[in-house]
Amino acid sequence: MTAQYQVHGDIAVITLNNPPVNGLGLSTRQGIADGMAQANADAAVKAIVITGAGKAFSGGADITEFGSPKALQEPNLISVIKVLENSEKPVVAAIHTVAMGGGLELALGCHYRIAAPGTSIALPEVKLGLVPGAGGTQRLPRVLGVEPALNMIVSGEPIKSEMLAMLPGQKLFDKLSASAESLAEEALAFARSVADVRPLPLVRDLKCKHPQGDAYFQFARNMVKGMSKNFPAPAKCVDVVEAATKKKFDEGMQVEREAFINLMFTAESKSLRHLFLAERAASKIADVPSDTAQRAINSVAVIGAGTMGGGIAMNFLNAGIPVKMLEMKQEALDRGIATIRKNYEAQVAKKKLKQDKYEQRMSLLTTTLSYDDLAGTDMVIEAVFEEIGVKEAVFKELDRVMRPGAILASNTSTLDVNKIASFTKRPEDVVGLHFFSPANVMKLLEVVRGEKTAKDVMATVMSVAKKIKKTAVVSGVCDGFIGNRMIEQYGRQGGFLLDEGCTPEQVDKAMEKFGMAMGPFRMGDLAGNDIGWAIRKRRYTEKPDMKYSKTADLLCEKGRFGQKTGAGWYDYVPGKRDAIPNTEVVAMIEEHRKALGITPRKISDEEIVQRLVFSLVNEAAHILEEGIAAKASDIDIVYIFGYGFPAHRGGPMNYADEVGLFNVVQAMNRFAKNPLDDAKFWQPAPLLARLAAEGKTFN
Ligand code: NAI
Repeated sequence: MTAQYQVHGDIAVITLNNPPVNGLGLSTRQGIADGMAQANADAAVKAIVITGAGKAFSGGADITEFGSPKALQEPNLISVIKVLENSEKPVVAAIHTVAMGGGLELALGCHYRIAAPGTSIALPEVKLGLVPGAGGTQRLPRVLGVEPALNMIVSGEPIKSEMLAMLPGQKLFDKLSASAESLAEEALAFARSVADVRPLPLVRDLKCKHPQGDAYFQFARNMVKGMSKNFPAPAKCVDVVEAATKKKFDEGMQVEREAFINLMFTAESKSLRHLFLAERAASKIADVPSDTAQRAINSVAVIGAGTMGGGIAMNFLNAGIPVKMLEMKQEALDRGIATIRKNYEAQVAKKKLKQDKYEQRMSLLTTTLSYDDLAGTDMVIEAVFEEIGVKEAVFKELDRVMRPGAILASNTSTLDVNKIASFTKRPEDVVGLHFFSPANVMKLLEVVRGEKTAKDVMATVMSVAKKIKKTAVVSGVCDGFIGNRMIEQYGRQGGFLLDEGCTPEQVDKAMEKFGMAMGPFRMGDLAGNDIGWAIRKRRYTEKPDMKYSKTADLLCEKGRFGQKTGAGWYDYVPGKRDAIPNTEVVAMIEEHRKALGITPRKISDEEIVQRLVFSLVNEAAHILEEGIAAKASDIDIVYIFGYGFPAHRGGPMNYADEVGLFNVVQAMNRFAKNPLDDAKFWQPAPLLARLAAEGKTFN
């Protein structure tokens, strides 16, 4: 049973019990309806309390029901709320810990609400591209006032109960309990105190007006428009709350219902719901049970205090985990520490970090030049030069000094993690932790599972990732892992587009219009064009048949490595990130085109987007089939959190599913006919071809 019924003297208590957050799935909804019927039929019961067991009052909809007909099956949430409102006996919601989405809507349907301090209250539906669908937009403004309610509905952010209780004239809570512990007792006493009150108060009967009316909603619309260009839901939130102020309650409910259903079918909402589930799924590894015993990680060592080492260390310091940094020379350590300090000081200057917190974090950081000092640490992450010989020397030292059971991780971006593991006598303790630059900012972490990596090491690093607020995705061992292996194909297409007639600016603009945080050439300038150059040089010998545009090499030969040299595909003013188109670069591209005997053609934005995105998709299909990624949704997560792929498109695989895999394959067949492109690459990956032929999708 996911809702329990008990009677305490003359009070019936319905307790939602659907762990982890008492999601309002069908059986819970049925349980509430049954409990209400029983309580109303029992003459000994004078009032009813609804509360939640465990860690929540209710977190809202049951995510396992997302997109399934069960979510709408009767009794749906709207019907359950009607049952509460129609109850002849008073219903009191006893709210604690979390009351979000449908959970809050349920409470708003009760006659009274008593909340524990510290409860997180939110209507987060907008984060899934929706508006609340069970009266939240009509009832919350009635109890909180229009402005506070609209702010909550548009942002989806939680606010603590004690803050809301301070709003003048609020009717959300009839009472705050003295503490979380005393809530149950106080709720029973409160229910007894209102048992004889008639008529029973209903939120729907409260007035809802904004003194400035139209002017306020116009202002709210303007605010929202600037913030949410790719998402229709926030603007809809304004519309439905406005309806609450202008229409009768039941008409407002109808407006909300229509908006909810329309949004449910938008690509944006589908993408956001996909990402919500994908992120949770990414943290689970099929053959590593969730109850796998983990190793304790209470201290970390970082080898190399360069670009990555510093950022990696900051993640752990931010989480309160002590870090020891090791370098070859004192100067390198000093430089690394100075960079960490500079980063924190910038946060302090922007008031994002308090001075005492900054000092507290720095006090967790120690340095050393000697491997022997690492003996006691629980985990080490290596971020030294990307050369296998250097990695070998480092891992042999780590094998010598680290205690048995310590986790040995490498941040390598291209090297073979199995080979690195083989430098030690304990390959089962070795794992890849591929952070993205800047490592203290980027959310993505590719966890590279070696052939011999132990299951408890995987379980441990996945939970460490959560502790340092990263979104972790497991990748098998291959060149470039999931993300960079795909981006190489994307970069190759970018090069061909220049050869065929585009400017870097045209390509970047098309991709940015599609929604990418940055087009491929601005991204190259940010990451450093020399990185791709080094990889291509390796490829020219490893894979002589592979076709590359030489334009990027010509750029690098000019020393135009990107932002770090003040010049790349674009020019940069020191200290600024604005990309300024450069006529010499454009002339260089034209000259190269001429030398190849290519007559430039006009290339549409649609072709640019399709060639770049479908190149990701085709490589990803190979990656999936090889088992490098376990699920298509993992690949979506990698691209959203690591490469600035637009969230409203749900990642490259979700986007391909939306376009239709049959159409994707058709487009690839067209691209294969272009003599300046790479026909071999555009052969649809077998998995993609199969799914397209069967009318199936990746996700
Ligand atoms: P970096 O050149 O900025 O820093 C490397 C640091 O390691 C230097 O401070 C150097 O003194 C130190 N070092 C070299 N050999 C050492 C040794 N034997 N013992 C101790 N310290 C040693 O390099 P970066 O960019 O931080 O890269 C480090 C690793 O992270 C590489 O494996 C790279 O592939 C990987 N990586 C780099 C990314 C990036 O965007 N820069 C992104 C993801 C991974």
